[in-house]
Amino acid sequence: MSKILVLDRGDTLAEQIRGLSDQFDEAPKITSCTRIGAVGEVLEEDGPFDVLVAGPSLGTRSGLARLRIISEELPEMRMVLAFSRRPDASLRDIVRTGAIDLLQLPVEDADIVESLQRAASLARRAPEPSVIETVATPEPESLEPRPNRPGIVYTISSATGGCGKTFYATNLAWFLHKWTGKSVCIVDLDLQFGEVSTALRLRPKYTIFDALQREDADESDLQAHIEEYMVVHDTGVHVLAAPRDPSEADRITPPDVTRILEAVRNRFDYVLVDTPPALAETVLAAFDLSDLLYVMATLDLPSVRNMSVFLSTLDRLRIDTDNLRLVLNKAETDVGIDIDQVTKLFPQGFESILPYAKEVSRSINLGMPVMAASPDAEISRLMAGGMKLVLPADLQAQVTQETAPKKAGLRRLFGK
Ligand SMILES: Nc1ncnc2c1ncn2[C@@H]1O[C@H](COP(=O)(O)OP(=O)(O)O)[C@@H](O)[C@H]1O
Ligand SMILES: [Mg+2]
Repeated sequence: MSKILVLDRGDTLAEQIRGLSDQFDEAPKITSCTRIGAVGEVLEEDGPFDVLVAGPSLGTRSGLARLRIISEELPEMRMVLAFSRRPDASLRDIVRTGAIDLLQLPVEDADIVESLQRAASLARRAPEPSVIETVATPEPESLEPRPNRPGIVYTISSATGGCGKTFYATNLAWFLHKWTGKSVCIVDLDLQFGEVSTALRLRPKYTIFDALQREDADESDLQAHIEEYMVVHDTGVHVLAAPRDPSEADRITPPDVTRILEAVRNRFDYVLVDTPPALAETVLAAFDLSDLLYVMATLDLPSVRNMSVFLSTLDRLRIDTDNLRLVLNKAETDVGIDIDQVTKLFPQGFESILPYAKEVSRSINLGMPVMAASPDAEISRLMAGGMKLVLPADLQAQVTQETAPKKAGLRRLFGK
C-alpha cells in the first residue's frame, strides 16, 4: 500500500484525494499535514511516505525553498505540486524542488489519480519490515531540545512597534540559557532596524547578510560556518545580527530566511527570532519554522486593536494558533484602559502581563537583559513566571523557588 502525505494549510486537497482512494489500483494511505511548520515531525514520525503532495499554500518562495530541502533530505520520496496559479517564484525555484509533476487546481479527479499513481510507482521506498506492528504510545508534546534534532524556534512578533519584542527576546534568550545550560542564539530578523546588538551592547563584525553572501555548495556548509557570523554576549547568548543598512535588508528574501533558520536551528538548542512589527513575507517564513509564536502588545488602544487584527490574520493564513503565546507589556494601571477589559478580548489569555519598569532602561544601558541585571525586580520575577512554562516540570519548580521574593528583612540586612 502506498503512503501519501498531503501538505497544505487547508484540508480541502487532502479531502479530495481521500475521496478518490477507491479509484486507485490499490487504495493508498493518506495523511494530511495542515501545519507547515510541523512537516518535519510528520515526515519523521509517520513516514516514510512514497509521495508528498504540496498544496497551494506551498506556492510561495519560502514554501518552495522548504520543499527543496525536504526533497534533498528524502530523495526516495516523490513530490507532486498542486497549485492554483503560477506561484510567486521563478521556474527555477519550482524545478529545484525536484517535483515530478505539477497539477493546476482545480484539478480533475482522473488527473489526480493518474498523477499520484505514477508518482507512487516511481517512489523507491524500501519495503517495510514485515513484522507485526506494535502500537507505539505517542510521546507527550515536549519542548525540550533533543539530541540530533533541530533546536526549538521561538519567534517574537507584534503588530505595532515599541511593544518590547527585542526586550522580550533578549530576556528569554538569557533565561533559557541560564536555566537549561543549552546553547541559545537570537536571530535578528528586524532586517531594516534591528536592535538586538544595541540592546546587548554588542559590536557585530558580521551580519545575517554576510552569512548569505557565502557561496556554499550545500546547506551543510552554511550550517558548519554559521557561527562565524555571530557575535557572543558575555552571558554566552549568541546573536546573528541584522544587516548594517536597509539596502542590504531589502535583498534578503523569504527563502534566505528559511535557509538561515534551518542552519541556525541545526547548530543551537534554542533559536529566538526577533522581528519587525509587520507580517512581512520574511516574518511568515520564520513563523513556518517556529515551534512557538509570541505576540506582544502594549496597554494602549491602537496596540491592542492591532493585536486582534494580527491574530485574525494569522488565523486566515492558517498559521497554527495552538502555539501562540500572548504577552501584554508596559501595563500600567492609570492609563485610561483597564487590564481586565483587555484580557476579556483575548480568550486565549496572556502568558504574562508585565508592568512598565524603570529597571529596564537601566539594564539597556548596561547591555544586559533586565532579568540578569535586576533579578529581584518585580518585572524580572513576573517574566520568569511566564517564561518558565516552556521548561520541563523539574526546572519549573526550581525557577519558582529561586525567583520567589526574598524576605524583606534579610534584603535590608544584606544591603539589597
Ligand atoms: N516593561 C518595560 N518597562 C520599561 N521599558 C520597557 C519595557 N519593555 C520595553 N521597554 C523599552 O521600550 C522600548 C521599546 O522596546 P523594544 O523591545 O525595543 O520594542 P520592539 O522591539 O517591539 O520595537 C525600549 O527602549 C525598551 O527598553
Ligand atoms: Mg525591536
